[in-house]
Amino acid sequence: HAIHLKDYQPPEFLIDRVELHFDLDPDRTSVESRLELRRNPAATRGDGSLRLHGEQLELETVEIDGNPLTGSEYVLDPESLTLHRVPDRFSLLTRVRIHPSLNTALEGLYQSGDMLCTQCEAEGFRRITYFLDRPDVMARYTTTLVADRARFPVLLSNGNLIEECRLEDGRHLARWEDPFPKPSYLFALIAGDLRAIEDRFTTASGRAVDLKIFVEPHNLDKCDHAMRSLKKAMRWDEERFGREYDLDVFMIVAVSHFNMGAMENKGLNVFNDKYVLARPDTATDADFDGIESVIAHEYFHNWTGNRITCRDWFQLSLKEGFTVYRDQEFSADVGSRGVKRIADVRLLRAHQFAEDAGPMAHPVRPDSYIEINNFYTATVYQKGAEVVRMQANLLGPDAFRQATDLYFERHDGQAVTTEDFVRCMEDASGRDLSQFRRWYAQAGTPELTMQGDYDPAAGVYRLSVRQFTPPTPGQPEKRPFHVPLAIGLLGDDGEDLPLRLEGDSQAPAAGTRVLELKAEEETFRFVGLDSRPVPSLLRGFPAPVKLRFDYGDRDLLFLMAHDSDGFNRWDAAQTLMQRLLLALVRDPDHGVLDAFFDAFREALLDAEGDRALLAEVLTLPSEGYLADQMDLVDVDGIHRARAGLERAIGGRLRADLLAVYRANAAEGCGYVFTPEEVGRRAIRNLALHYLMQSPDDETLGLCREQFAAGDNMTDVMAALRLLADHGGAEGAEALECFYRRWSRESLVVDKWFAVQASSPREDALEQVQRLLSHPDFSLRNPNRVRSLVGVFSVANQVRFHAADGGGYRFLADRILELDPLNPQIASRLLKSMIRWRRFDRTRQALMCDELRRILDAEELSKDVYEVASKALESD
Ligand code: ARG
Ligand code: ZN
Repeated sequence: HAIHLKDYQPPEFLIDRVELHFDLDPDRTSVESRLELRRNPAATRGDGSLRLHGEQLELETVEIDGNPLTGSEYVLDPESLTLHRVPDRFSLLTRVRIHPSLNTALEGLYQSGDMLCTQCEAEGFRRITYFLDRPDVMARYTTTLVADRARFPVLLSNGNLIEECRLEDGRHLARWEDPFPKPSYLFALIAGDLRAIEDRFTTASGRAVDLKIFVEPHNLDKCDHAMRSLKKAMRWDEERFGREYDLDVFMIVAVSHFNMGAMENKGLNVFNDKYVLARPDTATDADFDGIESVIAHEYFHNWTGNRITCRDWFQLSLKEGFTVYRDQEFSADVGSRGVKRIADVRLLRAHQFAEDAGPMAHPVRPDSYIEINNFYTATVYQKGAEVVRMQANLLGPDAFRQATDLYFERHDGQAVTTEDFVRCMEDASGRDLSQFRRWYAQAGTPELTMQGDYDPAAGVYRLSVRQFTPPTPGQPEKRPFHVPLAIGLLGDDGEDLPLRLEGDSQAPAAGTRVLELKAEEETFRFVGLDSRPVPSLLRGFPAPVKLRFDYGDRDLLFLMAHDSDGFNRWDAAQTLMQRLLLALVRDPDHGVLDAFFDAFREALLDAEGDRALLAEVLTLPSEGYLADQMDLVDVDGIHRARAGLERAIGGRLRADLLAVYRANAAEGCGYVFTPEEVGRRAIRNLALHYLMQSPDDETLGLCREQFAAGDNMTDVMAALRLLADHGGAEGAEALECFYRRWSRESLVVDKWFAVQASSPREDALEQVQRLLSHPDFSLRNPNRVRSLVGVFSVANQVRFHAADGGGYRFLADRILELDPLNPQIASRLLKSMIRWRRFDRTRQALMCDELRRILDAEELSKDVYEVASKALESD
């Protein structure tokens, strides 16, 4: 039952116009659809019949050109409606019934709290009406919504509002028309008792756009940051990509039950409320950041996704990779570029590299899938963004802008492929990207092994580079990639040296040089060097690869202190800490050199530096990331080593940390979300974190005070976490007090669950078990499930992977409970158990038992089936 890219066929029919009429009721909604269909002149084969997608629909009527069909004139099965012998051009009317309040999968039309909303990507529209539910069928929609006026005063859909009126029996009607052809996955409707904050944006060419953010009434005071973010994003897209908004109104709706982050429906973006709602006292800096980038991401989709969409779901990265690249660049421009790059690479290494190394590894453009919802992955999104970034860097800013202009012009209104995108890059720049295309087709993380040697007599530094990409499922052998390398060489004084390659005609400037690796192995010879340089490799992370280079600790300390590239200063620190931690895992008695603490102190006290960057530099690699560096994961050893080193830092540098904590106190103007202030809070809370690893009365006092007096959620949450992990009556009291204060703010309650789920305390699993029966816990709210079950299994390695298998059993039980309700969320949770091969035999067996137990369940969803069966497949 897998679907393959190579089997793609154009649709046999096209739909030009769609008229939808909804009679909305949570328990029983009627959907009437009128489609104008015609045979696709470009279709290649077929028997002339029309097969429409449809799932969980109760069919009431089918008419062709006004003539009702009898039951013998069509064929119904659970996934489709087939009509034999249809005219070349005709109008099809269907009427179906659906049941939003019973829809727990949150795909199609469903109920969230008191409102009705939709989620159609990827294949949810077929749960609303019979349709050609595939992205290469683009149609113009008119949507009429009828509902009870008291219960659902606000009725929204895509495009512009063209009619509104009152009906009998307290009902009312709204009619929306979307002038742009779109695929069905971009359809949306909303009905609810909502309030909006409104603003206005004038586009570069002078079009006035009404901006509206709709929320439930009690959330109206948490929309300002989202609105500011939206306006920034709209301006940025004009300036950086020449993209203007194209409708008279742009609407965002915040929904509390949502499977993913947000959805870019044309003119009507629907959001997980986590990515809209923020007030300084309810949301952390990380939340403010997330809102800014997700609002931008969905807005940017209007061009990269909506105006130009995907031919089929194998092309998902065409819109997602490019749009993530765009939102990353936006965040870098409006915030701090260096810190943004570090955060993005941290995420890529933690999730995408892990995915590439496991049984679900797939190319940026997958070859096949069983359930497309399983492929909204770090590979398609984050690695896809890196693949666009590499092309932007290979072309340079001017040619890249010409290439994206060409893409928007050439493909506007079309459903296209990643191949079409690359061809625009080539056509606009004249570059040959034929080898580069392998980044879309081959899975796996390339490993670059580099070696440097210096010949003092000749003044030559030779850098040899070998690339190797490990096998992934279905791809035993890989061909070499085209890899951009950004390299610098540091002299004794820490300054960048001029990089002259043998054979260069002109004298080069000092700084970074981009080399291009194409062969499996290549050597670069730098000439004119009077002493051994320290190489700074892969500056700014120019490609999604792993680097092996045999740095001495002293070289890493040198890079950490001097590299002109901020990213590589951070990376040198990470490599150093990772090395030290892995040595401590192998041998708990391995000493920690004074030089380490000295370097740490020196960085900590660097008053000039960017504080957000500093906080990144001084954060140890996570337990999960350390695990990825080991052939056989030592769960407890990693935890012991990392916790031990944090304790040592807190003890040895107590005075300096206290000084940093005090020096970075707020200056009294209240919470502001600026890069400087975010950095200040980050370094201050990091100092408190280290201090609290070996707490005394003074540090405990500071923590208590910050918890009680903090005027923003960033500081309060940091203190709460430290108190809760510290434990005892005090920890319990802090948790209790926090809950009482915030029990009516659902997103804050999520944080309260998450703090407990991620706690390294030995009784974490018992606590998580207890929280399952907390009145606020519900399997029906994805944010709540993620905050308890997701956080425990992803962000609490030491307790989730406990050797007695309790964590695995707990997770499998939840997955089996969830699968019948919400397969997408169940399948996501399963992903933390599929890389069982990296663990010892005991844990391997325990995880496999749970995977088998899951596979044995009756009526498993495709979503969970695909992940569990691939996890158990022998290679
Ligand atoms: N297109 C949305 C976004 O990235 C995500 C939709 C995810 N859909 C899904 N079925 N997982 O902005
Ligand atoms: Zn997206």
